[in-house]
Amino acid sequence: MKSFASDNNSGVHPNIMEAVKKANSGDFISYGDDVYTKKAKEKFQELFGEDIEVAFVLTGTAANVLSLANMLKPFEAVIAAESAHIYEDECGAPERFTGCKIIPIKHNCGKIKTDDIERFLDSIGFEHHSQPKVISITQATELGCVYKKREIEKITDFAHKNGLLVHMDGARIANAAVTLNMDFKEFTKDACVDVLSFGGTKNGLMMGEAVVFFNKELAENIKFLHKQTMQLYSKMRFVSAQFIEYLSNELWKKNAQNANNMAKYLSEKVKNLKNTEILFPVESNELFVKLPKESIEKIQQESFFYIVDKKNSTARWVVSFDTKKEDIENFHSILKKHI
Ligand SMILES: Cc1ncc(COP(=O)(O)O)c(C=O)c1O
Repeated sequence: MKSFASDNNSGVHPNIMEAVKKANSGDFISYGDDVYTKKAKEKFQELFGEDIEVAFVLTGTAANVLSLANMLKPFEAVIAAESAHIYEDECGAPERFTGCKIIPIKHNCGKIKTDDIERFLDSIGFEHHSQPKVISITQATELGCVYKKREIEKITDFAHKNGLLVHMDGARIANAAVTLNMDFKEFTKDACVDVLSFGGTKNGLMMGEAVVFFNKELAENIKFLHKQTMQLYSKMRFVSAQFIEYLSNELWKKNAQNANNMAKYLSEKVKNLKNTEILFPVESNELFVKLPKESIEKIQQESFFYIVDKKNSTARWVVSFDTKKEDIENFHSILKKHI
């Protein structure tokens, strides 16, 4: 039975598996000094232009930690949505490894606004307060919404005018790109984002994320921090081989398109269920749905998913790159039976 609990519950795209298998022949220099990693970096340069720095890592949390570690000094702070993965779901890893504070602010469907950031500028120069330095936004957000390009530009413009930097957590960046119908570069580098955590695992990779520096000055210490944050994976060719495949023939786009389309299909089905409410616009591959309390356990017994807000009986359903129409229809039959 296909899971709707998380896009991490899905397997690996067969083409990615094949790419890993192909890379498993012969010996290659380790720690990223191999031809696969060179080629994977070139793939990123094709997407974003030559003037970037890229480092491959194993998890999304690591991508965020490494991004932020390169952007911050220990007395500085990150401003992010209360719903941000870096704030809520990384067991304090960014704080531990950077020594920096994360300042959570209110949001709308995971999106933050400069009006809510402005007051923190008053702390700048005051030694009793952590010094705001980075604004971190998530694209697509943890609640399934997508920032428009002009919304990102408003944040980067505000940040840079005030001496701050912008990090984007792009664990689901492919889903956002499909929704915006844009190339990755248009709403990241062209929108003046400084550093990007570029996701892969949630969209068909086995394990692989990348940190992409558009502001290369920030990558001054990348080779040391890459190792110190324990992400300089010795057999890096197996991560790089996945990215080469992922970024060839638009595999990323096909996968994300399917996930987004199937999320829309699920939302059409759920709309017709009684006593349920879809809480946020379905703009990527996630749905947040208020369910009748008494139905939750019965549905979970047949198809497990997480309740993200117990008090308001709100479920999170995530659709994957390999979810099929019939998976949605099976899940819908279970929902209908218990609601
Ligand atoms: C928005 C976002 N960022 C980062 C991550 C971290 O990824 P990982 O679990 O691979 O560390 C996740 C994972 O759920 C996520 O949803």
